[in-house]
Amino acid sequence: MTVENPVAQGSTTAVGEDRWVEPELARLARRAAAEGTVLLANDGALPLPADEPVAVFGRVQLDWFAVGYGSGGDVNAAYEHILLDCLVERGVPVDAELAAVYREWCAANSPEQGEWGNWPRYYEEMPLEDSLVDAVASRARRAVVVIGRAAGEDRENVLEPGSYYLTDAEERLLAQVTSRFETVTAIVCSGNVMDLSWAEGRVDALLMAWPGGMEGAPAVADVLIGAVEPGGRLTDTIARRYEDYPSSEHFGGKDFNEYAEDVLVGYRYFETLAKDTVLFPFGHGLGYTTVDLAPGELVVERTGGPTGGTARVAVTATNTGERPGSTVVQVYAGAPQAPALATPARRLVAYQRTEELAPGAAQELTLAFPMDRLASFDDSGATGHRNDWVLEAGAHEVLVGSSVRETTSAGTVDVDDAVVLEQLEEALAPDPAHPFQRMTLTTGADGCPALAWEDVPTSTVDLRERIVSRLPRAIETDAPADGSTLTLQDVAADRAELDAFIAQLSPAELADLTFGDVIMDSPLGVPGNAGAFGGVTKALRDRGIPAVTTTDGPSGIRVSAYASLLPCGTALASTWDPALLTELARHHGAEMIRKGSDVLLAPGMNIHRDPLCGRNFEYYSEDPLVAGLTAAAVVTGIQANGVSACPKHLVANNQETNRIHNDSRISQRALREIYLRGFRLCVELAAPLNIMTSYNKVNGQWSHYNYDLVTTILRGEWGYQGNVITDWWMRYAPDPLFPALADSATRVRAGVDVLMPGAPSWSGTHAEGHDSSELEALDADDASGEHLTLGELQRSVRNVLRMLLASGKVEDYVPTEPEWREPVVH
Ligand code: BGC
Repeated sequence: MTVENPVAQGSTTAVGEDRWVEPELARLARRAAAEGTVLLANDGALPLPADEPVAVFGRVQLDWFAVGYGSGGDVNAAYEHILLDCLVERGVPVDAELAAVYREWCAANSPEQGEWGNWPRYYEEMPLEDSLVDAVASRARRAVVVIGRAAGEDRENVLEPGSYYLTDAEERLLAQVTSRFETVTAIVCSGNVMDLSWAEGRVDALLMAWPGGMEGAPAVADVLIGAVEPGGRLTDTIARRYEDYPSSEHFGGKDFNEYAEDVLVGYRYFETLAKDTVLFPFGHGLGYTTVDLAPGELVVERTGGPTGGTARVAVTATNTGERPGSTVVQVYAGAPQAPALATPARRLVAYQRTEELAPGAAQELTLAFPMDRLASFDDSGATGHRNDWVLEAGAHEVLVGSSVRETTSAGTVDVDDAVVLEQLEEALAPDPAHPFQRMTLTTGADGCPALAWEDVPTSTVDLRERIVSRLPRAIETDAPADGSTLTLQDVAADRAELDAFIAQLSPAELADLTFGDVIMDSPLGVPGNAGAFGGVTKALRDRGIPAVTTTDGPSGIRVSAYASLLPCGTALASTWDPALLTELARHHGAEMIRKGSDVLLAPGMNIHRDPLCGRNFEYYSEDPLVAGLTAAAVVTGIQANGVSACPKHLVANNQETNRIHNDSRISQRALREIYLRGFRLCVELAAPLNIMTSYNKVNGQWSHYNYDLVTTILRGEWGYQGNVITDWWMRYAPDPLFPALADSATRVRAGVDVLMPGAPSWSGTHAEGHDSSELEALDADDASGEHLTLGELQRSVRNVLRMLLASGKVEDYVPTEPEWREPVVH
């Protein structure tokens, strides 16, 4: 069945007056927002001196961007602040006359907020008479110019003024200010990296303030006056021109994108091949003090197994400046000489934020990392070990520093002979029908790495044969001797095995467990929720299976009630401080309980492949280690409360253009080293109870129908035991391998457990219910795989029920019918 299925989103209008936010949650949010603010340049302009007048320009000082748009932004924020007020409250002597002009103009020119997908990317700047700027400049020597951008879901940023580039009015404002003031600080409040080449040589300080949620503006004010440090470090490279990004020629395609840059994403490309095109390198960020990093001993402990052992590097961090402060110690690996596989000149292998150091004080740190962070995935057989993770022979330099550029060698990890760390099988390789070329490296005439191209190895696997040969068997279990009917509470109390309970479920009940409730804002959950799954029918609830409520998302709990608005994903990641993020997420998880959310549809952790991706603000980094460790920190904090997280979108949801049809064509190597790597780290370190698949196709197959993605890799290679759900309102499609299957039968065969929401179309109603006929038409033990088997359906149900059991909602669940909102009718 194919239905037209545009994305529909629940509307969330705030109800009730409960704007209470736990003070500790607000404090941590403010700390994270400040720690994520990146000071890109500072020629002594910041912090602002307490007693000098400062003129603040730009309407964004009032029309502040606290978050981006869409499911990752539409939180009914309990409160928000604006920068100008925060500066005034802190006693900053802002030019009052100028402030009054802005207040009056902004009040009269309130920006339209627009509908889904048509939100403003910027607000038109207030025109300023030269005479006014002259008058202000006669009263103040210092100026601050605030520029802002917002991005959102379901569309891209564009290479136009008002999005990636400055508008003429902004350009004029900058010219007016920089020509008249002695010291100019530019603040860019933007969820995405935008062109910053205009700042070069023109401003004295440049501060990147990612939308920091309800506490973002106070955090930026704290930073400006020096009450706290700008703690952030870039999680992306900022290039001088958009065209310099290695993805730029293969981004935004309507039907597909060839990931031609392969593993040379972000700094992996720039540091290897195009150093001169970088404006601000990955990992860069200044504080208000200087911290010297001196590497000490590098100790390597080699073992067998997939990690290959551990390397430890000692570092002494000494505050050599005059103010207290901390820094982020970053450890990178270099490439060995003449590797068989093109190896980027730098790969981040570990990082740690120091404690706050008093002037002159030092901290001894030891940063440990598994040896597999030096390994590469061989998808071509160049090392003689095709489809394996290989630690190549040679001297792997280990470098310690404060950015990918500012490093000191700590020695080398010497590998005599190449070591296979993990033997895998080919999975998710590009379709031979769509071959393409990828970037690789050769040695140039000057002995430096040079760009070359090679064919991407394509798939050789008979996927149909793989699936059929691995069909799970149906549960064979004896019914309870006394003929009793089990409940899920029996399983929770260890009175029965989970499989014995599953064996008692009828095909219709099994099928129902693989569909979410059919609408967003399910009556089974709190108003404004994103949907529910689990006990979505009365029959299931009578068996003791509760429904769980899902809510977005990465910047806060998106329900009808007021909730905390947290710093966006990029802001959080820019802290490089997993311990802080776990603590923040722990308090966020406690708010989930208060607001009635069981599953947070977060973190968003797709790779920042290209600066134009509209959802980059929700995501973390161009680097998979930062993305993975940040996500693991957030998941750990949320799940410490018993509620659960749902990292998304697996995998390669790297653009919004035509996102529900677009095919991301990627080599196995780039998938494993870049796009899947963060998810794997998150799974291994934090065991999220749920994972969400992406809208897009990967190498020709939608993620929610993708067997190799979910069953071969996620579950097979990584051992993931949790629940896999789809993104919202998915495409229906015939099965390309099994003519009798389609839609949800293909999905369950792939190992994707729950369709969200479980409607036959986006306009599904409760009266319509969901269509599970293709699941119920199963052939119990069809070894040919022509039909869905009972074992496959039971496998998905086992994943869903394991998640529910871990959610802590089962033990005391008493089957109840929702009385307070429209009852569910299936
Ligand atoms: C987004 C998801 C989100 C879901 C539910 C989709 O449009 O891609 O990230 O969690 O909606 O709101």
